[in-house]
Amino acid sequence: MSKILNTRMIRQFKRKKAGKPLQMLTCYDFQTAQALSETELDLILVGDSLGNVILGYDSTVEVSLDEMLIFSSAVKRGAKNKFVIADLPFGTYATLEDAITNATKLFAKSKVEAIKLEGAFPWQCEMIKRLTEIGIPVMGHIGLTPQSVHQLGGYYTHGKNQADAERLMMEAKNLEAAGVFSLVLECVDEKVAKDITDNLNIPTIGIGSGTHTDGQVLVINDLLKMGMSQPPKFCQPIADLYQQKIELVRNYLEQAKAKDHHVLSLNN
Ligand code: KIV
Repeated sequence: MSKILNTRMIRQFKRKKAGKPLQMLTCYDFQTAQALSETELDLILVGDSLGNVILGYDSTVEVSLDEMLIFSSAVKRGAKNKFVIADLPFGTYATLEDAITNATKLFAKSKVEAIKLEGAFPWQCEMIKRLTEIGIPVMGHIGLTPQSVHQLGGYYTHGKNQADAERLMMEAKNLEAAGVFSLVLECVDEKVAKDITDNLNIPTIGIGSGTHTDGQVLVINDLLKMGMSQPPKFCQPIADLYQQKIELVRNYLEQAKAKDHHVLSLNN
């Protein structure tokens, strides 16, 4: 599929589709992107969660723009037929100037179809408006925003009381007005996520926010259990690739050892 056809898909994503939920997975490398490009997946996110699952950082705060550029470009090379979104990392959009410079660099150089950024303060909504005006499609992200984990004081569900629920609803509406084409709701109380979804024209994509959003996103490493640690409660893994890798390599080592013995004994 050509870049322009991918780009046209944004018109569909901007409208809620009754019935079929949008499905989005994260992806960080060329070969996995090639595999995903053969599936019916709607959206690929090169999330800054790559800091945790690929680079072994303590949080997404450590991820740099150069790292996002490398991984987003690799994913886009592997999934030319997919609508790919890349996260703008921590500290790269703290001012309007930085946001324009860094979003433009990530968007143009990696060739992704859109960028995502966290937060909905009024100045961030202004910034999003500006980015969309210069031609960069933006996906919003509210609720648990991992880049602000130190400010939020940890990872927990948002919108559990009336004031917080109202704040989230206002943020969602402000982001829609600013021009985001879709909105990630991360760890938002299920009922609040449903209310927000019912009140927006753009699709919401939930993670750990119940089942009433217009779409769902998961970190592929959690879904396939590629790591040592247990995936979050809301993600039911469909495989255990971590264990499988250990077993496959152990079997290979055993077999290679036996073969070496055999070769050695034949040579002696
Ligand atoms: O970085 C990421 O993977 C994300 C998703 C969890 C939405 O932002």
